[in-house]
Amino acid sequence: MIILHNAAQVITPLTGGGFRIVDRGAIAYDQDLIVFVGSTEEAIASYPSAERIDVSRKVLLPGFVDAHTHLIFAGNRCNEFLMRLRGATYQEIAAAGGGIQSTVKATRDAAPEQLLEAARADLQTMLSFGTTTVEIKSGYGLTFESEMKLLQVAGTLRDTSPQDILITFLGAHDFPREKSREDYVVELMENMLPAVAGEKLADFCDVFCDQGYYSNEQTRTIGRRAAELGLRMKLHVDELADVNGAALAAELNAVSADHLIFANDEGIEKMAESGVCAVLLPGTSFSLRMPRHAPARKMIARGVRVATATDFNPGTCFCHSMQYILQLSTLLYGLTAEEAITAGTLNGAAALGLESRTGSLEPGKQMDCLIFDIPHYGYLFYNLGSNRLETVVKRGKVLWNKKQNLR
Ligand code: NIG
Ligand code: FE
Repeated sequence: MIILHNAAQVITPLTGGGFRIVDRGAIAYDQDLIVFVGSTEEAIASYPSAERIDVSRKVLLPGFVDAHTHLIFAGNRCNEFLMRLRGATYQEIAAAGGGIQSTVKATRDAAPEQLLEAARADLQTMLSFGTTTVEIKSGYGLTFESEMKLLQVAGTLRDTSPQDILITFLGAHDFPREKSREDYVVELMENMLPAVAGEKLADFCDVFCDQGYYSNEQTRTIGRRAAELGLRMKLHVDELADVNGAALAAELNAVSADHLIFANDEGIEKMAESGVCAVLLPGTSFSLRMPRHAPARKMIARGVRVATATDFNPGTCFCHSMQYILQLSTLLYGLTAEEAITAGTLNGAAALGLESRTGSLEPGKQMDCLIFDIPHYGYLFYNLGSNRLETVVKRGKVLWNKKQNLR
């Protein structure tokens, strides 16, 4: 048993709702699980023989949950970012041969070892900003063999990485060039989805349902097939246009609907009614230089659970840092500091079905805890662009430390 005590603040959202701030706080944990969160006096009185670690002048938070990433790919699209700085749009760049298809080409050509090495380095960078749980999507293969290759790399990462990892099959990210759209949907339904579900290669299935990509009808067909096979849906919807994707996510009983920049009011109501989490990606609309951002305030007002994530990918948002995402969610969406922390921790866990295990500092949950060298949690937002993280504890083990840069 170990007690972290004398923390300036212990900060956490609460699973049943609400937000807790304990001044001069403490956390007691046994192996990988939290047993107590509260005042330093009470922790020491309850567990007098526990080992004590003084964390004076530090703020403790739950580990960040990055519930939406496209972590496995080859190459980069820095050139596209520079083109956007000169005024080109995402759609113009994709139409000119860039976009997802250029990453598909590089990723198909890459050996699994190469993809694994790059993804490991990216996960380590994410850890250094406090991400302890990560969702990883396939989607840059778009053939049976290459999508399976990406899911196998994701499986190796899940089995060997310090973070908890969940895997999403996004074979419906775009359409491959060498087949008709109809034929590829048949391939998804008849071959890819059964293999993914049969071999348990993924936890979720996702579709990019948007203008120019998968239609609502195609998404519905794929979603129903995935459900038959026991895979729950996550959806990329309403990122480029209002395609009524929020309502579709509710209809398909998706775990989450992601992006939602153009989501309409009716869809938002339906998401609230069916308990679909919103996963909002402020780095994406920001990095795409879009004039609008997801209507997070409206969603919260209607009772939708709002999570935030990086969307880490080579095209629309090359961002490793959940700290940066939390800052953007306050400045672009108008979230309060407490809402932004909840969105990047507990609500991210809910969007992955992991709410009972992680996402908050509460007894019975995993000891996934961040130690920040700041005097108040407000500094997470106030101190723009700095990384004041000092130590990352995952399941009770120190995985990263700023001074020693321990793994
Ligand atoms: O979430 N919208 C679809 N997929 C990614 C972008 C993929 C890419 O451009 O490579 C996203 O923004
Ligand atoms: Fe995405």
